[in-house]
Amino acid sequence: MIKQDKGRFIVFEGIDGSGKSTQIQNISKRLKTENLKVYTTFEPTDGPVGSLIRQMLSGKIATDQRTIASLFVADRTDHLMNSKNGIQKKINQGEIVLCDRYYFSSYAYHAQYIDMEWVIHANSLNAEILKPDLTIFIDADPEICFKRIKLSRTDFEMYEQIDVMKKVRINYFKAFDRLKDREKIAVVDGNRSPEKVEDAILNEISKFEGRL
Ligand code: ADP
Ligand code: TYD
Repeated sequence: MIKQDKGRFIVFEGIDGSGKSTQIQNISKRLKTENLKVYTTFEPTDGPVGSLIRQMLSGKIATDQRTIASLFVADRTDHLMNSKNGIQKKINQGEIVLCDRYYFSSYAYHAQYIDMEWVIHANSLNAEILKPDLTIFIDADPEICFKRIKLSRTDFEMYEQIDVMKKVRINYFKAFDRLKDREKIAVVDGNRSPEKVEDAILNEISKFEGRL
């Protein structure tokens, strides 16, 4: 499906509970059966800035929304550039990088509180370093996603509220529309079974690779 001639950067986006982690795991397994070198990663990262962000999202550290938005920019630059396991290095080594969230998450989540143009501008250095080859948006109904989260957990992070999730979904589409000339985006229906969603994603990757 993918010819491992050079690295790829494939980003998975969606509201909380849309199935990103599930799909990344499954797609990674699938690509590995084709002997491809796959590296999976996520934001917020488990590095120093990402760990700080997680404490803010869980409510352990009080802060304000501008601080969170700015920290995500820094976390992303570290995610790209750090010399141990930075994405840029993996891509240079020819790996297929599957990433759970990237800058479209910032556009969608922080535009609730800050002008989206500011968020896009604040991330411009990251976009200059590395744009995704393909962003896959798993589009699932906020009510369904909220139910899934409630089934799997008892404590909730800052943005895991139904009203927020509805706004974030709308913001994703605003951001896609704004950047449609610069970015390659595929939207898949995430309301179906994990197997169906996986097939749809593999189909989009094949289309992108020109192998359909
Ligand atoms: P995300 O990473 O986008 O937050 P997850 O992959 O963690 O989402 O999925 C959230 C919850 O929903 C998990 O308990 C997962 O098992 C379940 N789930 C994921 N995809 C589906 C699906 N297509 N249908 C039903 N449940 C799903
Ligand atoms: P994540 O762990 O991916 O949550 P989930 O697995 O439930 O989807 O992300 C944690 C939260 O961080 C999530 O609510 C989205 C938010 N977030 C931002 O607000 N801005 C960003 O730039 C990123 C990457 C994530």
